[in-house]
Amino acid sequence: MRLGRMKAMSCAACHGMDGKGVSREGVMVAPPYGDSELVKRSPEGLALIILKGIQRESETYSTAMGSMAPVYDDRSLAAVMTWIRNQFGGHEDVITAEQVAAWREKHAARTEPVTHAEISEMVDAAP
Ligand code: HEC
Repeated sequence: MRLGRMKAMSCAACHGMDGKGVSREGVMVAPPYGDSELVKRSPEGLALIILKGIQRESETYSTAMGSMAPVYDDRSLAAVMTWIRNQFGGHEDVITAEQVAAWREKHAARTEPVTHAEISEMVDAAP
């Protein structure tokens, strides 16, 4: 958890350390984690958007979320996910480096950011 909180600093520039999203000149830079169904329901989906980024499809936010794959090894990504899911998704489970490695491998061929349609599908497919 401590490692996760520290590693989440890389997300905080846009999402805020409190996860509520940062606003600059009245425009939101990024959404609050608490509004994300992925954070609540789909760990694989959450891993995927951090690894690949999200396609920018509207002007709702002043920036886009790019791939953060180079920033995190499997252990630190697992720690960030564990921390975010715990703080904002109501989960107490721990995401392991092995799970992250498996997701990284499964989606290795993908280079494009995730689309909003895919995010909805992942949420719908989640248990
Ligand atoms: C450069 C700014 C930036 C950084 C850094 C960033 N994000 Fe984002 N993030 C965004 C934006 C913008 C969106 C909304 C994209 C959209 O919907 O168009 C977003 C969306 C999200 C979502 C919501 C997905 C959904 O629709 O349910 C999650 C979860 C998320 N980010 C997690 C993270 C995590 C975790 C990190 C750090 C590993 C991170 N972000 C780093 C800008 C950023």
